[in-house]
Amino acid sequence: MEKTQAYIKEHKDRFLEELLDLLRIPSVSADPAYAKDVRRTAEFVSNSLKKAGADSVEIHETKGHPIVYGEKILDDSYPTVLVYGHYDVQPPDPMDLWDSPPFEPVIKKTKLHPDGAIFARGSCDDKGQMFMHVKAFEAMHANGELRCNVKFMIEGEEEVGSDNLGTFCRENQDKLSCDMVLISDTAIIANDTPSINTGLRGLSYVEVEVTGPNRDLHSGVYGGGVANPINVLCDMISGMMDENKHITIPGFYDKVATLSEEERKAMNEAPFDLEAYKEDLSINDVQGEKGYTTLERTSIRPTLDVNGIWGGYIGEGAKTVLPSKAYAKISMRLVPNQSSDEITEIFKNYFESVAPDSVKVEVRPHHGGEPVVTPTDTPEYKAAAKAMEKTFGKEPIPQRGGGSIPIVALFEDVLGVKTVLMGFGLDSDSIHSPNEHYGVFNFFKGIETIPYFYQNYSEMK
Ligand code: BES
Ligand code: MN
Ligand code: MN
Repeated sequence: MEKTQAYIKEHKDRFLEELLDLLRIPSVSADPAYAKDVRRTAEFVSNSLKKAGADSVEIHETKGHPIVYGEKILDDSYPTVLVYGHYDVQPPDPMDLWDSPPFEPVIKKTKLHPDGAIFARGSCDDKGQMFMHVKAFEAMHANGELRCNVKFMIEGEEEVGSDNLGTFCRENQDKLSCDMVLISDTAIIANDTPSINTGLRGLSYVEVEVTGPNRDLHSGVYGGGVANPINVLCDMISGMMDENKHITIPGFYDKVATLSEEERKAMNEAPFDLEAYKEDLSINDVQGEKGYTTLERTSIRPTLDVNGIWGGYIGEGAKTVLPSKAYAKISMRLVPNQSSDEITEIFKNYFESVAPDSVKVEVRPHHGGEPVVTPTDTPEYKAAAKAMEKTFGKEPIPQRGGGSIPIVALFEDVLGVKTVLMGFGLDSDSIHSPNEHYGVFNFFKGIETIPYFYQNYSEMK
């Protein structure tokens, strides 16, 4: 591995420059206005894979954004690793809260990133982390030190639910056959406290529409006599959680797996500084389900959150109106053994059943995803843990995360393999927010660690 590591040191500046070029392309998957840029990004990724030495590189068309595939099959006797990542990013809005333009990357020092962090949409989620894999592969291949077969599958629709990737996986089971999936799209606890993500929450996402009268009304002439759909929607939403922040929808918790006291004790031994957490978010106190710690509330417990709510008059000044309609987008994060379709159904039935006769309601389901827990007693987990121990000088802590990567559950179902979530971001890197950034330290730490992973895995498997 010495030659690979020396190569990485020697080519650092170029690796960083290439990442900055990748970050300059606005690959926003949610907004059709960016479709051409999303495609240019797929081409960029495909060219980088080719230059790094991958074979059979192709841009696979889908009903949505393309999937980039490439592979290096060196020897039938080597284990095969499927690297998954995404080149699409979240919309940058709200634009005015960015200190520098989202697609013009700049490097600035921060408290947690004294060596500098790259500020740009997608720097951490997931272009920066995905690109570490391309560069680690390039370095290993150039130095003849790779002893694994590697397949890359980099998609452009993760941030919109990975709808077409499922079809691609089902239709290409042979091409994608592998011993495990490796993903860098999660976080570590801190730059001096490595961790490996051992779980992701699932997701059920719905949009609701509440209709009152057939048109907007004068709030003086009709006010008090006709249901206001915004008032009704707010009542319905606040009724979904009790004073202990327990979700009141009947059946919501029925399938939630409970952890043993030992498991809960172990997970709460992970370093977590509540004061620093509050300070980082400028909040005086945290809030959540009674009886659980912040670490638990954000990983092993399900949630219900309003992501957006609108209706009525929101322009300048005051307009006295009793609106005809109100809307909200609501997400529920799920944990084992909840099922996304089932929870969506439970929500829909509940929401329809509690709506007063004075309004009509409609629930429209969006994308979803199933929760996953990844094992720690496998060769692939141990290979990752040992690689991180080598480069961080500390054994990583296994820790379940709160986010979702919808496709991971499908890897197990369709490809029959386990995933290792070896991410290098920090929770405080503002992914999906203005001023998203990724530590320069983290970028290079990832590139340095991945080759040890391949080495360990080829020796353990
Ligand atoms: N990389 C994140 C998920 C993540 C972040 C997991 C941090 C663990 C720690 C991913 O890109 C993401 O944002 N997923 C979405 C899912 C979606 C849009 C269907 C999410 O979690 O909201
Ligand atoms: Mn991601
Ligand atoms: Mn994301």
